[in-house]
Amino acid sequence: MKIIHTIAELRDELRAYRHPAVVPTMGNLHAGHLALVRQAKPLGDVTISTIFVNRLQFAPHEDFDTYPRTLDADCEQLEAAGCDLVFAPKETEMYPQPQTFKVHPPTELADILEGHFRPGFFIGVCTVVLKLLSLTQARTALFGKKDYQQLMVIRNMVKQFAMPIDIIGGETQRADDGLALSSRNGYLSAAERTQALQLSQALRGIVEAVRANPTMDAVALARLENQAMQSLSHQGWRPDYVAIRRQADLQPPQAGDAKVVLAAARLGATRLIDNMEI
Ligand code: PAJ
Repeated sequence: MKIIHTIAELRDELRAYRHPAVVPTMGNLHAGHLALVRQAKPLGDVTISTIFVNRLQFAPHEDFDTYPRTLDADCEQLEAAGCDLVFAPKETEMYPQPQTFKVHPPTELADILEGHFRPGFFIGVCTVVLKLLSLTQARTALFGKKDYQQLMVIRNMVKQFAMPIDIIGGETQRADDGLALSSRNGYLSAAERTQALQLSQALRGIVEAVRANPTMDAVALARLENQAMQSLSHQGWRPDYVAIRRQADLQPPQAGDAKVVLAAARLGATRLIDNMEI
């Protein structure tokens, strides 16, 4: 496995390949990232992972400075998972001058849910993903369903810019107790880590309730959302949202739509997100 830090070296390497399959990450890798790398393996003639903590997608009060940077351990895991090439640029390589050209995703998709609570987040994500996919000459790129809205925003961006890239979604990888794996789980204290399973439990409860009664109207769905928010609050969480949406565009569902329930909540100082398709 080659580890590359500059765009010049990357371009040089890429001359040997026709179909890069790319897994963009911010590093501090866990089994969720590695599952995407394994899934990528048969989909291209070279498997590339990018590792870059993208300042553009963090608000000033968020955890850019403390986000765990663990390049050596990440590379060991990537090699074991069958990755061929790691592109881990420095910030000055990705943003040699201020990135004043940015991708502005549409309001109806990117200013709801995560985008509502993290204004500008998807501008930062789209801008860096466009740049990473272009740099790596990706023909296939893989993103996790764990970040359901992110996957949808990227899918739509790639489609609307007619980029010649297949976007593939990977299933959410979970710990044994159901907690979705996340680099941010490392921020949790031991007590918080035990408690953290309440988020996936709340979502599982909604999935079961909706499956048991698939014709629920908007009022009944809103009641389920509110009950879950309240029960998380009583357990000591500070929920941003618990929302049942339609899978197609994350808008409120109509009768018969395939649905997904998405949630974001803070436990102590840690903000966790999760979702489940219904
Ligand atoms: P990061 O949080 O490092 O995640 C990288 C990829 O791994 C994303 O596609 C994410 O959805 C996926 N992933 C994370 N946890 C997962 C899990 N438990 N199961 C399955 N997939 C999981 O998402 C980002 O980085 C950044 O926003 C990025 C797209 C790299 C742009 O900076």
